[in-house]
Amino acid sequence: MKAAPLFICLLLCFQQLAFFPIASAANQGDNLNKLIKSRKSENPPNAETWVALEFASKEYSPVYVGNQSGSMDADKIDALPGQPKGVDFNQYAGYVTVDPAAGRALFYYFVESPKNSDTNPLVLWLNGGCSSLGYGAMEELGPFRVNSDGKTLFRNEYAWNDVANVIFLESPAGVGFSYSNTSSDYTTVGDKRTAEDSYTFLVNWLERFPQYKSRDFYIAGESYGGHYVPQLAYTILSKNKITNQTVINLKGIAIGNALIDDNTSNQGIYDYYWTHALNSDETHAGITKNCDFVTGNLTSQCFEYLGQGDEEVNDFDPCSDNYVASYLNLPEVQKALHTINTTWSACRYIFFFDTRGCCQAPSCQAGVGPFISARTALLVLR
Ligand SMILES: *[C@@H]1O[C@H](CO)[C@@H](O)[C@H](O)[C@H]1NC(C)=O
Ligand SMILES: *[C@@H]1O[C@H](CO)[C@@H](O)[C@H](O)[C@H]1NC(C)=O
Ligand SMILES: *[C@@H]1O[C@H](CO)[C@@H](O)[C@H](O)[C@H]1NC(C)=O
Ligand SMILES: *[C@@H]1O[C@H](CO)[C@@H](O)[C@H](O)[C@H]1NC(C)=O
Ligand SMILES: *[C@@H]1O[C@H](CO)[C@@H](O)[C@H](O)[C@H]1NC(C)=O
Ligand SMILES: *[C@@H]1O[C@H](CO)[C@@H](O)[C@H](O)[C@H]1NC(C)=O
Repeated sequence: MKAAPLFICLLLCFQQLAFFPIASAANQGDNLNKLIKSRKSENPPNAETWVALEFASKEYSPVYVGNQSGSMDADKIDALPGQPKGVDFNQYAGYVTVDPAAGRALFYYFVESPKNSDTNPLVLWLNGGCSSLGYGAMEELGPFRVNSDGKTLFRNEYAWNDVANVIFLESPAGVGFSYSNTSSDYTTVGDKRTAEDSYTFLVNWLERFPQYKSRDFYIAGESYGGHYVPQLAYTILSKNKITNQTVINLKGIAIGNALIDDNTSNQGIYDYYWTHALNSDETHAGITKNCDFVTGNLTSQCFEYLGQGDEEVNDFDPCSDNYVASYLNLPEVQKALHTINTTWSACRYIFFFDTRGCCQAPSCQAGVGPFISARTALLVLR
């Protein structure tokens, strides 16, 4: 299989990466926990499946495509403030307008490979509602990490751009540097619009970077990205069949630490911690005794042990989030990244989840199923 080397790499990287979401667990994890708890409440949101949200029309309605001429050059980053010497790859950052009427624009950071960038695949990374720049790029798989001074960067030796050209997309609007001039967009957001905006982003981005139009393309992500990734893949495959615009050369997807089944996700997280010596035996025993993940009967003692488990892990690197936040709020960094002048935070608006609440396996599989039948590669990692 042609894609095998990338996937082996992705697999290795995910194993490595698995140590890092922890630093982001505070924010991203808190948001996810809110969602999980809201569905365990007495009046849980009504769950509609992804397929029920599907595009009713088989007719293609063309997406907005802006004039991208000159934008690639304008987005080129000369150098990020405080970056180490000897950076041997191209970096770009900027906005792609996905809805000119609403004034909605998505922010991306794109890094090419130091070697073979003209043949390496193109990968889109989605963190799932919190920032793909702050977490994905700066704490997980991007080329740089932020030093404790919050001002300088060092190279990440496990960077994915060694083997792929990687786009980090802050999605949906309201997350990180992505924004909308129509503030109600922040409350009406849901999975379907997130997928459609991301699709519009890609069609426009490929006009801006036309050399990537026919490149092998992969989507990868984590956390609530476990929804966004297959939903975007599904959107692309549906549109590819009927579009008279760009056909996106989607080859595969990968999801890690994906929130697609509350019950087993919870169990998986804490099993992982314990088997990687990040949780004590005592905590593990408490969780095993008090939490019934299969039925979802999580008692108050159970929540206590889960909290204890999270705390033990948070000691791992409590400050990375702060280094990143202070770096991304430096005026010279925002200028270098071509962002609007704003206060960046990793999870600016929390309601990025679909309020219809697809988080049980069957409704998520409805999104993944057609994708599998299209004979593209699917990699699920835990
Ligand atoms: C697109 O933008 C470029 C640069 O701003 C401009 O020269 C060109 O005329 C525009 N093309 C169209 C079709 O508007
Ligand atoms: C949002 O509004 C600002 C200020 O009017 C404008 O400069 C910007 O282009 C708008 N953004 C989009 C995506 O239309
Ligand atoms: C693409 O299809 C749409 C809808 O059928 C049509 O309005 C549009 O003119 C077509 N564009 C091209 C370039 O053929
Ligand atoms: C997960 O737990 C809930 C109770 O919170 C239960 O209703 C549901 O059937 C469980 N799902 C699965 C797939 O076991
Ligand atoms: C949940 O577990 C607790 C403790 O084991 C038990 O007392 C309670 O009856 C269980 N609740 C349900 C709905 O099964
Ligand atoms: C950004 O906006 C703030 C508040 O309006 C202002 O104080 C600051 O000077 C602006 N920074 C830049 C680089 O424009």
